[in-house]
Amino acid sequence: NILPPLPLSASYEGTFAYYTIRDRLPAILSKIADTVFRKKNETGEEGREDLKSIVGRISKLRNELQTDKPLIQIEDTRSDTDVWNQELHRREIRAEAPPSWFKSPWLYVECYMYRRVEEAVKMSKILTTMDVFEELKQSSFLDSQAATINLMMFLLETVKKLQKDASHQDLYKLFQCFVQVSLWGNKCDLSISGGSDNAQTSPLIEQLHLLEDNIIIDDIAQVWQCLQDAKSKSGQPGRVDIVLDNAGFECITDLCLAEFLLSANIASSIHFHLKAMPWFVSDLTQSDWDWTIQKLCSSNNLAMSKFGSKWKQLVKNGSWVLHADDFWTMPFSYSEMSHFAPELYKQLGTSSIVFLKGDLNYRKLVGDLNWDTTTPFEVSLQGFHPAPLCSLRTLKADVVVGLKPGRAKEIATKEKDWMVTGNWAVISFCSKVC
Ligand code: F6P
Ligand code: MG
Repeated sequence: NILPPLPLSASYEGTFAYYTIRDRLPAILSKIADTVFRKKNETGEEGREDLKSIVGRISKLRNELQTDKPLIQIEDTRSDTDVWNQELHRREIRAEAPPSWFKSPWLYVECYMYRRVEEAVKMSKILTTMDVFEELKQSSFLDSQAATINLMMFLLETVKKLQKDASHQDLYKLFQCFVQVSLWGNKCDLSISGGSDNAQTSPLIEQLHLLEDNIIIDDIAQVWQCLQDAKSKSGQPGRVDIVLDNAGFECITDLCLAEFLLSANIASSIHFHLKAMPWFVSDLTQSDWDWTIQKLCSSNNLAMSKFGSKWKQLVKNGSWVLHADDFWTMPFSYSEMSHFAPELYKQLGTSSIVFLKGDLNYRKLVGDLNWDTTTPFEVSLQGFHPAPLCSLRTLKADVVVGLKPGRAKEIATKEKDWMVTGNWAVISFCSKVC
């Protein structure tokens, strides 16, 4: 019964958490203030007052962060406000001091920052639904246009092949391909670059084989087996859940994976989990979803418009289901889900597999603790196991588990900052509770 390790935190100078709190988060806040300020000519007098108030709140937040002030209560009246404030109180009592930016766990304070950004918006008079990251997300989607066309044409050909022959002999290869597409789609995240230069500009399909060596844990065969077993057990394919991450090209890669799973009769329905508010710069909200589908529908490209209307239809007829539980934008690790969101936990339990996309989901899976890299994945989950799980994540934070002894050192000789550049990835599967 060894105690779990400590949470990552900016209190450890020189770590990626420290650098994130010191440099990356203030840069993100400055960018938000700039974006909001630039909107002043787009609204009337009342709107201008709101913009001023938002910029003021963001600047104050930035100052609190940079001077390591204690975290304070959230003032708005969202459905999650009480939970945030209770959690702040709980931490204060436990540590006998209020949490602060550089001393408390990184995951907690980073989530808190995005919640305070939302508070700044929610406290305005008329601009209460503004998404301060909307422009960034939309331009990243538009900048990935060529790669999107290339991928969706490939999807179109694949679906045609499957219509002719559903038990296609290359099914496993195709499955592997679409899972890898969704995996590497996670490189396109705006928070790592502070919101610039992170569109997918080259065709991904052609690069997959070159990227294979950079998948440092590859449980794809087990993921495939899990889906096959679910199918043979009940005589038909089951529900698949995808906990989505970023808007833009990554979202397209996830929708392509979902389309493939249905078309190949590997899944009967896909349940997507979105964010209930703007989150970690590029995460997908319901309005990003609507905008994306609309863009696809109105595209001149055949594959884009075809799938755009098909996917709209799949949502209408219930084959694709969208959920946006508040839990995904809370600061908790997933081992706390059964306590804070029992209904969501129960729902996930009806799935044959839950895919979790991206870095933040991974950090929450493993509790953002400083695990030894050889810790088994199922141990790091600390009891979180609603259903079989598969993390598809490119590494952008310095925590990873499930590696063989010596492997971390070996990768470090190839790239010093391998844990945070997004150049390395894991397909980590877990089918058992530990
Ligand atoms: O800044 C923290 C962080 O979790 C990084 O580690 C990562 O760059 C980003 O936020 C989120 O990445 P993703 O969109 O893959 O969850
Ligand atoms: Mg994200």
